[in-house]
Amino acid sequence: MSAGPRDLVYLNGAFLPAGEARIAPDDRGFLFADGVYEAVLARRGAPLLWDQHMQRLAAGLEALAIAPVDLPVLHAVGRRLLRDNDLAGGDATIYLQVTRGAAPRSHAFPVPSVPPTVYVAARRLAAVEPELWARGVAVITVADTRWARCDIKSIALLPNVLAQQRAVSAGVWEAVFVRDGVPLEGSHSNLFLVAADGVLWTYPECNYVLPGVTRRQVLRLAAELELPLREGVLPRGLESAREVFLTGTTTFVMPVVRVDGRLVGDGAPGPVTRRLAAAYAALLDGLIG
Ligand code: PDD
Repeated sequence: MSAGPRDLVYLNGAFLPAGEARIAPDDRGFLFADGVYEAVLARRGAPLLWDQHMQRLAAGLEALAIAPVDLPVLHAVGRRLLRDNDLAGGDATIYLQVTRGAAPRSHAFPVPSVPPTVYVAARRLAAVEPELWARGVAVITVADTRWARCDIKSIALLPNVLAQQRAVSAGVWEAVFVRDGVPLEGSHSNLFLVAADGVLWTYPECNYVLPGVTRRQVLRLAAELELPLREGVLPRGLESAREVFLTGTTTFVMPVVRVDGRLVGDGAPGPVTRRLAAAYAALLDGLIG
């Protein structure tokens, strides 16, 4: 993501240049990673799949017993940041983070409670060569060392950071977490595969994966296209898959053509992946009208 010409951000009710935004050192996001976040795609000034992202944000706040935030206000904030930062022309991301707020360090929740810290920024989506989606990417698998509430979009992302850095160091696009021999999802994306018998698989929504907004849309599209579909433990790992792909807000539908150095299928994006990528692109276009 790159900053727009002005790079205004929103922090606790105020719009101000990013360089002037100040977070208290006692903020529990800083001290404990005590908060949640969302990354929303905006196209031509319109936040896409906003309600789905806000539903997950609200669920995360409830799970952590952080006070709810005013969702219509956040929507207006997002749109204003896109407009004022000259981001209404192309693709951008709106990043929203809510923490439990600032209070002297103590593990238990502050008493009396303090207002949550609410931060929103909008940045241009980094230009990635579109060719990548046509060619597909390589991934590595890594042991899943995360906690057992991966369904919460927590800002505590150290295992994801370390995994993605391993991917970058290995010269690949993403790291796929494997727990007890089962591939679950990427460091910042959900995972699908097409098994040798043509069935499309993804791990079910549960505490070990993020309920991805893109994942749900892709599942809906797969059902509409009447593709054979199973949500379950991915069969016999990734090495025997005919096709593998990742989904995410900034990943879209990304074909995976190499896993741990081995080719997936014939090493080119497969037909199911290409159909779903096209259907998802059309869905996003349809959302802007
Ligand atoms: N990441 N799984 C993980 C662990 C993620 O962090 C993400 C998204 C996804 C895909 O979810 P969605 O389709 O709702 O974007 C799956 C965002 C983009 C991020 O961390 O920036």
